[in-house]
Amino acid sequence: MSTMIQFTSFLLSLFFFFLLLNQTNSPMVAATHPDIILKTCKRCAKGDPNLNYTLCVESLASVPKSHHSDVRGLAIVAVKLSKAKTMHAKSMVKKLLKAKPMEGYMKNCLLTCTDVYSDSISDLKDSMKAIKSGQYKDANIRISSAVDAPGNCEDSFQDGNIKSPLMEENKDVFGLAVIALGITALLG
Ligand SMILES: *[C@@H]1O[C@H](CO)[C@@H](O)[C@H](O)[C@H]1NC(C)=O
Repeated sequence: MSTMIQFTSFLLSLFFFFLLLNQTNSPMVAATHPDIILKTCKRCAKGDPNLNYTLCVESLASVPKSHHSDVRGLAIVAVKLSKAKTMHAKSMVKKLLKAKPMEGYMKNCLLTCTDVYSDSISDLKDSMKAIKSGQYKDANIRISSAVDAPGNCEDSFQDGNIKSPLMEENKDVFGLAVIALGITALLG
């Protein structure tokens, strides 16, 4: 009789052991953890009125890897997104420069923006390396330059009182750079 009870209790322990094992691996449990993207974007948005929380969540969530990332991984994703948007803006300038004959001043502004974007792209590349090697302060400085870039491009048009043909691009570039900076700042 007592061996029977012992055996039953052994089976029960086994049963609960596997139940527990199974649960920790189940996606249901993972889903109840607050999502790293929401959590990180919330933390960044709190410290920066320029940071667009919706854009932060949407742009990070568009990269599948983000969902299984830590904050450092998200910082790298955000820098990559910033770089891609800046490259897009730069290709836009290239098109504008080819499109038609234009006033000299406009052409100078566009050339200024090309330089600004090129510097920014190399800053973002360097910042990615810096994040990967744990040099967060260095990354911060470089991403800060990338945050300033779209404004520097816009200024050239404003100084000549002409309408910027890159307003939308600069707004997008700025929005993403602010997010990259915000997440990197969380790394310390
Ligand atoms: C924030 O981003 C969302 C999504 O891209 C956009 O629809 C919204 O206009 C942005 N808000 C501001 C204040 O720029």
